Amino acid sequence: MRKQLTIGLFGFGCVGTGLYQVLNQSNLLDAKIKRIIVKNKAKKRIIAAEHFGYEASEILNDSEINVVVELINDSDEALIIVREALAKGKHVVSANKKLIAEHLDELIDLAKQNKVSFLYEASVAGSIPILRNLEEYYNNDTLSSVQGIVNGTTNYILTQSNYGVSYADALQKAQELGFAEANPTLDVDGFDSKFKLVLLIKHAFGLSILPENVFNYGIRQIKNQDVKYASEKDYRIKLFARAEKIGDKIIGFVAPHFIKKEHVAYQVDNEFNAVIVEASFSDRQLFLGKGAGSFPTASAVLSDISALQFDYQYEYRKSDKESNTEFTEDFYLKIYLASSDVDALKTIPFAQIDEIFQSKGYNYQTGYVKFSDLSKNNFNDLEKLFFAVLPEPFLNENEIVNSKQIKEDLINEIV
Ligand SMILES: NC(=O)c1ccc[n+]([C@@H]2O[C@H](COP(=O)([O-])OP(=O)(O)OC[C@H]3O[C@@H](n4cnc5c(N)ncnc54)[C@H](OP(=O)(O)O)[C@@H]3O)[C@@H](O)[C@H]2O)c1
Repeated sequence: MRKQLTIGLFGFGCVGTGLYQVLNQSNLLDAKIKRIIVKNKAKKRIIAAEHFGYEASEILNDSEINVVVELINDSDEALIIVREALAKGKHVVSANKKLIAEHLDELIDLAKQNKVSFLYEASVAGSIPILRNLEEYYNNDTLSSVQGIVNGTTNYILTQSNYGVSYADALQKAQELGFAEANPTLDVDGFDSKFKLVLLIKHAFGLSILPENVFNYGIRQIKNQDVKYASEKDYRIKLFARAEKIGDKIIGFVAPHFIKKEHVAYQVDNEFNAVIVEASFSDRQLFLGKGAGSFPTASAVLSDISALQFDYQYEYRKSDKESNTEFTEDFYLKIYLASSDVDALKTIPFAQIDEIFQSKGYNYQTGYVKFSDLSKNNFNDLEKLFFAVLPEPFLNENEIVNSKQIKEDLINEIV
């Protein structure tokens, strides 16, 4: 039976106003927003002042409100709100990936104890319905990987760089268009993608992992030469969040990747996101859509609210089935490592070097490195270096030993 939903909304910014509008336009739902809590009393709003309040307790202590929709931009405050709402027996819908990735297990337990739902589809890849699909559709098919472009800001910047726009100019353009925050660190250093990856890993593989244990590297150090290298090889650089099953273990990280022309993500440009799921029976599938923005994100929030009408909740069945699954950094991947300073390339030990190029102001080498040697470094702070993952397969220790071959004769020198 459909449930009557009375909503208390926290936040009336980009997503909150979008939700208000889409909810008004959707007459399929038996849901109404009773109260909206915001922060800034002086701000002009698109609806009358009587709808707004400034004290969380107005929603949290209102027994008629059975759904809290949390859409604020402060994850510490959001945690306090979400905890209290769940503890008071209210269903919660949130889009705050940082908060959820950092506190997921605690919030799942709290929701279970209080017999309420905690849904957060909008927190991963905006409008793309990936979490519920991983939960339901892929529950009986063995997943081997979930990966893709889950941050629209960096994808926009990288798309511009393909047209010869420098990183700094592309970032400025993204900020002018409202795609990037004034402080873009969470996006451009890959943190935002990592928070989303943590949630993808939980729903795809049942594994709980804290963001601090997942390596993330973004796009801040990318140079025109790196983009040129990519285009000469018919690649495009994309920031990929990548989770894969290797044997019975899971790997996961965020880093720039060279994507081949034939790959489904090659043409995914600007603020679009793409999630690629590989499974035993269904093979490879692509989810494509807008990863951010007022209406696209609000549509995912609306879908969660709609699911609440039928008491939907994530079951986390894979967490029960695969509770022994381990996360590992023990594998080799082929990378391109570039720097203006040839000595800086020695920062990372290569297990196998395939190509070396040296010139004044631009040096690179390609080859296999052990992931744990890479992830020891905080690459976002290594200003002189840029690395990106090449499209060759990951290898294990045995495969590396077998193929070890240092091709020093490939040194090219341009003076
Ligand atoms: N924007 C997107 O495309 C997008 C996509 C996916 C997920 N998300 C997530 O959605 C959430 C909202 O993002 P947004 O872009 O809509 O943010 P936003 O435009 O910056 O709006 C934030 C809203 O939160 C309110 N707020 C801040 N602190 C508050 C507090 N302590 N109590 C009550 N209200 C408070 C602000 O109030 P005032 O209006 O008074 O300033 C504002 O209305 C974030 O978690 C974000 O990560 C956003």
